[in-house]
Amino acid sequence: MVSAIFPAAGQGKRMQAGLNKVFLELMGESILLRTLRQFSVVPAVKELVVVTGKDEVAVVRRRLSRVPGLKPLKVVAGGTERQYSIWNGLRQSAPEADVVLVHDAARPLVTRETIEAVIAAAREHGAAIAAVPEKNTVKIVADGIVTATPDRSTLWSVQTPQGFHRDLLIAANEQAERDGFLGTDDASLVEHYGTPVHVVMDSYRNIKITTPEDLIIAEALLRHEHGGIRDSLRKAAKKAAEHLAGNR
Ligand code: CTP
Ligand code: MG
Repeated sequence: MVSAIFPAAGQGKRMQAGLNKVFLELMGESILLRTLRQFSVVPAVKELVVVTGKDEVAVVRRRLSRVPGLKPLKVVAGGTERQYSIWNGLRQSAPEADVVLVHDAARPLVTRETIEAVIAAAREHGAAIAAVPEKNTVKIVADGIVTATPDRSTLWSVQTPQGFHRDLLIAANEQAERDGFLGTDDASLVEHYGTPVHVVMDSYRNIKITTPEDLIIAEALLRHEHGGIRDSLRKAAKKAAEHLAGNR
């Protein structure tokens, strides 16, 4: 069985909404609930572990318990860093789970295909992450001066879900706790202790809602669900071709 852990204990400072951004609504439903629904349609996922702020646990538990159609759910308190929040969720995940997924509650546009691909790769290899090839040129900057330009063809933007054999992720977190090591994502702990992490190609749709612009982008993506992106591209290309033909 698969247990999915959702870090949702941040403060959403960059969103500047004055509250935890995962409670913001996107076309009538909260970001958190949208995320949980995406995982609830995946048959392999048997448990959802939502990690919220200490003061939010009771209200989130009450609100989610009334929602039909969700997989069995636990709501637990997080910590001051994302890594600590996940460690707490992981400790409370079902011991029968062979694979655990970690997924940002702030990524409600994740697809069933990505979730299932990460589960399969994590099962096979022990550790797998969803990612997309980087679109931008990325530079390393120190004190306002560029010090290096890494070869873009080697760069991937990492998203979630990230999937692991449960015992592997527990071992990596125990070790990180002993060493006082703080990684930037879950895979970085596993990498740090020497386990290869496999990359699963994700979709560019699976954005993390971080700043106010992302709400607008997410709404537009939701409106264009069900093949709408291809329709938009076809329309835009047809118009451009017409204009080019007319201007000749
Ligand atoms: N998160 C968490 N515990 C923390 C910090 C973050 O569970 N101590 C969660 C967030 O709720 C979010 C995910 O990790 O779903 C990704 O983090 P991020 O996008 O940085 O969210 P926030 O920390 O809430 O936003 P900000 O950094 O702008 O304050
Ligand atoms: Mg944060």
